[in-house]
Amino acid sequence: MFLGFTCVSQAARNAQSRWLPVPPDITRALLLGLSLIAMATTVPGAVAQKVQLSVEVSRAGPKIDRNIFGQFMEHLGHGVYDGLWVGPDSTIPNTRGIRNDVVAALKALNVPNLRWPGGCFADEYHWRNGIGAQRVITLNPNWGGVTEQNTFGTHEFMDFVDQIGAAAYISINVGSGTPREAAEWLEYLTAAQPTTLAKERAANGHREPYWVAYLGIGNESWACGGNMTPDYYLSQLKIYSRFVRNFNPAQQDKQQMRKIAVGPGGSEPEWTDWTEAIMKAYQNRGWSWDIHGLSMHSYTVGHWPPSFASVGFGETEYGQILNYTLEMEELVSKYSAIMDKYDPQKKVALVVDEWGAWYAPLPGSNPGFLVQQNSLRDAILAALNLNIFARHADRVRMANIAQMINVLQAMILTDKENLVLTPTYYVFKMYVPFQDATFVPVAFNAGTYTHGDIRLPRIDAIAAKDGAGRLWMAITNLDPNQPAEVEASLAGITVKSAAGETLTAAEVDSVNTFDAPKTVIPKPISARVAGGKLALTLEPKSVTVISTQIDNR
Ligand code: AHR
Repeated sequence: MFLGFTCVSQAARNAQSRWLPVPPDITRALLLGLSLIAMATTVPGAVAQKVQLSVEVSRAGPKIDRNIFGQFMEHLGHGVYDGLWVGPDSTIPNTRGIRNDVVAALKALNVPNLRWPGGCFADEYHWRNGIGAQRVITLNPNWGGVTEQNTFGTHEFMDFVDQIGAAAYISINVGSGTPREAAEWLEYLTAAQPTTLAKERAANGHREPYWVAYLGIGNESWACGGNMTPDYYLSQLKIYSRFVRNFNPAQQDKQQMRKIAVGPGGSEPEWTDWTEAIMKAYQNRGWSWDIHGLSMHSYTVGHWPPSFASVGFGETEYGQILNYTLEMEELVSKYSAIMDKYDPQKKVALVVDEWGAWYAPLPGSNPGFLVQQNSLRDAILAALNLNIFARHADRVRMANIAQMINVLQAMILTDKENLVLTPTYYVFKMYVPFQDATFVPVAFNAGTYTHGDIRLPRIDAIAAKDGAGRLWMAITNLDPNQPAEVEASLAGITVKSAAGETLTAAEVDSVNTFDAPKTVIPKPISARVAGGKLALTLEPKSVTVISTQIDNR
């Protein structure tokens, strides 16, 4: 039985308020406004739309933190069990119970950090249930009311992040736990001295202290995490920030654990109040507590309960969902501006640690398991959000798509021994070169794609320089019908060639399945050089990433 929708009640309200007859919003104004930067060359009715793209190679922006490509994994449906954890006795090839095929696929994404154990689950998670030889069987009231075997616990999670090469982002229980419970968990994880807890960790198989890079202090504490007011949460935040310490000797200086406070979950005035309260307290903080990040959650839902289909939809639903997802720009701008007031030096990162598409559960699935398919539309949605984060790289320094395996907008779907990589997976793979690259401004004539009353920028693009002297461009053609002829001028450099990959498919709702896993996979693309400029043709509804070597590093 599915017992809980309470944890998403805020998301519900946010989503409802978005279900309006598409007024001009800041997002679209911003993106459509880019068309003023260069001449509008869109010719109505023409087959291939011309796009002028101007990359200011010599102007270096902020670093695009690799952590914006973070992942989120919750004890929810088959996100953990069967998704990655099959147990050491499984016939599915595994290493200490963790699926080898999943690890191999995730290693290719260079996953920078992984948030765990929730989500709403985190505020009912008691870590001692998940260590040692005898695991305590509990319930998962938020997600289907199923039993939780706790066979995947602290050591298994730390083994998993180690196998995929990611940093651990642990979300502690502020809702139903205590500061002591959380403090002891961190001592168990990180103490090097022979304390009773450190010795217990060693007895359970790990003598060395673990590395915990990020600590989430609560999850959605304004709703499923305890329905707290800003003042109440702040009093908790200060206590947890003070007493939940990382004792790992190697993490006492520059590598210290980053603490992330609960931030806004929508665009309504209450979220402004919440953000103001946390950031004002931060500005006035004393020596005894600190935060390094403020979390923000924003799903692309449409309306509540989630009713957009994840497969079997048409151009209208494609346009509507992309229109909703572009509201991320408005939210990030709004909360960045509030943070700027109290933290002009931008010490606190805006951490979008839950984002992605949330659709109707697949027919026949447990509605509490949040199972959905992942289509070409999701690939484009992912690229648009990553582009927004990159454009705000000075403040958005971490983000976590929800969720990594088998839940919501997943990278990977599994069914027993079968595994399939989703279109979203391929976007994350194509964007790997943007991890820690330097943002480069790019101006372009976005043009407008219209369908009924839906108006979207036809093109979106970002550019960045990597440490090896290559320039990378990611260009998305949102228009599902018209190709785009892109002509890119790269101010100040001579271009010889550029090549990369493009991701598209026959239909906006094309998906990869266990039977047909290669319907939406990247294929090679190369640019032509004409008059010192790069020219390439983008297929309709496509995401393209290309690179070119540059000399003037
Ligand atoms: O990702 C699913 C849920 O969405 C998370 O548990 C919660 O934080 C949010 O409401």
